[in-house]
Amino acid sequence: MTATPASKMLDRVLVLEMVRVTEAAAIGASKLIGRGDEKAADHAAVEAMRAALNELYMDGTVVIGEGERDEAPMLFIGEKVGAAQGTGPKIDIALDPLEGTTITAKAGPNALAVLAIAEEGCLLNAPDVYMDKLAVGPGYPEGVIDLARSPTENVRAVAAAKGVQPDEIIVCVLDRPRHADLIAELRGIGCGIQLIPDGDVAGVIATTDEDTTIDLYMGSGGAPEGVLAAAALRCVGGQFNGRLLFRNDDERARARRWGIEDLNRIYKLEDLARGDCIFAATGVTDGSLLQGVKRLRGGAVTTESVVMRASSGTVRWVRGEHRKAW
Ligand code: FBP
Repeated sequence: MTATPASKMLDRVLVLEMVRVTEAAAIGASKLIGRGDEKAADHAAVEAMRAALNELYMDGTVVIGEGERDEAPMLFIGEKVGAAQGTGPKIDIALDPLEGTTITAKAGPNALAVLAIAEEGCLLNAPDVYMDKLAVGPGYPEGVIDLARSPTENVRAVAAAKGVQPDEIIVCVLDRPRHADLIAELRGIGCGIQLIPDGDVAGVIATTDEDTTIDLYMGSGGAPEGVLAAAALRCVGGQFNGRLLFRNDDERARARRWGIEDLNRIYKLEDLARGDCIFAATGVTDGSLLQGVKRLRGGAVTTESVVMRASSGTVRWVRGEHRKAW
């Protein structure tokens, strides 16, 4: 892990503050678990996250949020948040108050409230387009994965580094028709594939936890989620490659508006999240990473969160009991 200059260190008080923010969003969304209403669940998470962010002593700017100003009434890209505008530390925020809106509406697994923060200018301002993603957990030689190579070549490289055969490698992939060729290629070399219905931030992070048995993450998903996942890997280790995918000229123009010149660039971890960064997530529904929000008899709710910081490499698991939260 590269050392972070002192000038780029985030105040560590912010670590636990970030957990409060994702807890609030998760509790907000949890009231809508299994209610079949994605928009209402997302809205509840957004409102709660925004209110919690606005209590913090910081001069925050949303750089990855719910969309551009004309698309999103709250937590839009460029929105200023925090109670110390002009006086507090300048912080850039990438957020997804509800990562897994459909999962939440259907009460499926792995919905999360997530955010990442870094000093101003340290997170890629990714447009809301797709990103081709390739990730592997820690413990491998740098460069073991490369998006410029085929899925087969990447599996073979990771298998060789792990000392196993390619057919012993497990790859996590979003279950989408657009991944039919990828899935066929991976099955052709005998890989196990864990198909997930949604939630590729959790899918990427799963590569860092040997208990999940997932070795690699492959396939396309949202670019904003790519930046969030990269921030998490900056903290716990692992490698990530991402390349923006454009479906039309409008999306290309959108990327250029965000200052992206090389549209074919392969981004690595430090290109997506530089310097010190903090990543926090709270489970909304039960998943491989975190337990979801539970309502206890008597009205209290419990939450499970993880918060990590790149400069220290610390990972904290936080179980909250909220007695007046519902
Ligand atoms: P939401 O937070 O919008 O529900 O995103 C869920 C998600 O599965 C992401 O994890 C993923 O990056 C993206 O959607 C994939 O997009 P699509 O559903 O268009 O394939």
